[in-house]
Amino acid sequence: MTTPNLFDTHAHLHFPDFAGDLDAVLARARQAGVSRFLTIGTDVATSRAAVALAAREPDVWASVGVHPHDAASADDAALEEIERLASAPRVVAIGETGLDFFRDLAPRDAQERAFRAQLALARRVGKPVVVHCRNAHDETLALLASEGVRETGGIMHCFSGDVGIARRCLDLGLVLSLAGPVTYPKPGALPEVARMVPADRLVVETDCPFLPPQGFRGKRNEPAHLAITAARVAALRGEPLADLAARMSENACALFRL
Ligand code: NI
Repeated sequence: MTTPNLFDTHAHLHFPDFAGDLDAVLARARQAGVSRFLTIGTDVATSRAAVALAAREPDVWASVGVHPHDAASADDAALEEIERLASAPRVVAIGETGLDFFRDLAPRDAQERAFRAQLALARRVGKPVVVHCRNAHDETLALLASEGVRETGGIMHCFSGDVGIARRCLDLGLVLSLAGPVTYPKPGALPEVARMVPADRLVVETDCPFLPPQGFRGKRNEPAHLAITAARVAALRGEPLADLAARMSENACALFRL
């Protein structure tokens, strides 16, 4: 079997979870066919760490932003620092940002304010947004539409909606990213979503260290497991893994302008 050419569009490689063995983690991923990684900041400190890691590894790029869980920390000083980091070399996206009304770890008005500010930043710097959305699809899609996501482009990370929501995301010009949950025994609407998304609007991700695919649940996720998720999506679509993987990598490169 030929090794697929995969792009992990959403990883948190700079998180402390990988501090002890990142070189080995990256080596396993490269061995499994992952040739590019986007490592995603979730606040000022982790955005700085993401930029530093991307400066060190030639196949790692960075996204900088404040996660909805950390939205209470997104004061003016934090947003100014994110804006400064956004122009660092190898920063190709803004986020992750969005709304999470499932865990509600930050007040909803703070989440909306931080999301709006980062959408405006994405427009100013001309980079796509990495969007986190849980139990807030109507509110998230409304803000994306009103804040000009069509101009910047964006990616709906770890897509968790149904076919109707997928269609609305596609109408806004978004790319949909599937993660480990598509491999679970109870995947909800995700198989149907995996089949309906046009080939030029689909990517995959691990969201590591979170969301390991079936077979690794309860453990730390790592980018080498991306092949499991990609293989599941290829099987659902009835496409050869190598072809789909190459196509999804092209989609990610086009969105991030690599
Ligand atoms: Ni994430």
